[in-house]
Amino acid sequence: MEINKIYNEDCLLTMNKMDNDFIDLTVTSPPYDDLRTYNGYSFNFEKIAKELYRVTKPGGMVVWVVGDSIKDGSESLTSFKQAIYFKEQCGFNIHDTMIYQKAGPRFPEKIRYAQIFEYMFVLSKGKPSTTNIIMDRPNKWAGWTNWGNNAHRVKTGEMKAVKDAKRYKKFGSRFNSWPPLEVMDEEDILYYISTGMKYEARLNVSVYANGFGFGTKDKSAYKHAAIFPEQLVEDHIITWSNRKNLVYDPFMGSGTTAKLAILLDRNYIGSEISTEYASGAIGRIQDVEHSRGILMDEFEIASKKRLDEENNFQSEVSEKVNDITRKDKWQPDAPNKSM
Ligand SMILES: C[S@@+](CC[C@H](N)C(=O)[O-])C[C@H]1O[C@@H](n2cnc3c(N)ncnc32)[C@H](O)[C@@H]1O
Repeated sequence: MEINKIYNEDCLLTMNKMDNDFIDLTVTSPPYDDLRTYNGYSFNFEKIAKELYRVTKPGGMVVWVVGDSIKDGSESLTSFKQAIYFKEQCGFNIHDTMIYQKAGPRFPEKIRYAQIFEYMFVLSKGKPSTTNIIMDRPNKWAGWTNWGNNAHRVKTGEMKAVKDAKRYKKFGSRFNSWPPLEVMDEEDILYYISTGMKYEARLNVSVYANGFGFGTKDKSAYKHAAIFPEQLVEDHIITWSNRKNLVYDPFMGSGTTAKLAILLDRNYIGSEISTEYASGAIGRIQDVEHSRGILMDEFEIASKKRLDEENNFQSEVSEKVNDITRKDKWQPDAPNKSM
C-alpha cells in the first residue's frame, strides 16, 4: 500500500488495505459526542478500535485524544467508555492517561467548574518498543539532596550529612499533563471580555493555549473546526516513535499529524472522509514535503544543549561538594518560592 499519502475515504477502508502489524504509531482525535458534525460524517468506534489493534505493530502505540460533552446535565463519559473498550475488547494496554490542557473553556459554566481539558489515552500493543521520554522540565530542586542536608541518623540519634547523597538533576522528565503554550488565545480573551467579570470561577486544571494563531501558524488549517496544536503532535511523535517509522491518523482533519510526521522525518498515512478537509490537508502538507527532518534536527540540538547544561551543572555541583561538603554540608540556594 502506498505510504506518505492522505486517503480521502472512511478510515475502515484505509485500514482494510493494511497488513497486520503495519503501523508504528497512531496519533489521532476522533469526532466525538456530536459536538461538531464535521460535514455530517460519523464513525463506527468499535470496528475502528479493533482494526487499529490489528494494524498496530507489537510494541506500537496509539494516542487517542478525546473529551466528553455534557448530555442531560451530566458528562457523557465517552472518553472512559472508549478507553475501557480499547483495553477489554481490543487487547491494548492503557500505557498512560494524559491530560491536554487547553487555553480556555469553550462555554461559560455556571454550575460546575469550566471544562478545560481533554484526555490523551496512550495505548500500547504489548510492551511499548519506543519511549523517548522528553527531559525538558527544569527541576526547581536541582542540586539538592532528597532529604535536605542532614539525612543520616547516627547511633547517637544525631542527623549527619550523607556522603555521596543523590542530588536532583537540572532537568527532569515531564509530568503527564501537557500544556502547550503559556498564553491565552483570542477566544479565551473574548470570553473574559464578554462575561465582563474580573474574577471568574476557577478552571478545572489551569490556563494554557491552543486557538487561532497559536495551535499552528498555517492559517488555512483553521477552516477545520477542531485542529490539534502542532506542539501536542510533535511531542507524541518524538516520544513514541523513531525516525522513518510509520505514523497513522485515521481522522486526519486539517493534516496536522502528517505535517509533523514529515518535519520529524517519519513516514505517514492519513484517512479523511470529507473531501473538503482531505484536499485542505493535502494542500497544507505539500508545502512541508521538502522539509523532512528539520524539526527533528532542532529537537536534537535542543536535547544536546540540555545534556551539556546538565553535565556542566553536575561538575559544578561535584566541585562544590568536594570543596565544601568535606567540612560538612552543602546545599545550593533554595528555589524561589514563586517557582
Ligand atoms: C477531530 S477531527 C480531527 C482533526 C485533526 N486532528 C486536525 O488536527 O485537524 C475528526 C475528523 O475525522 C473525520 N472523520 C469522521 N469520520 C471519519 C471516518 N469514518 N473516517 C475518516 N475520517 C473521518 C472528520 O471529517 C474530521 O475531519
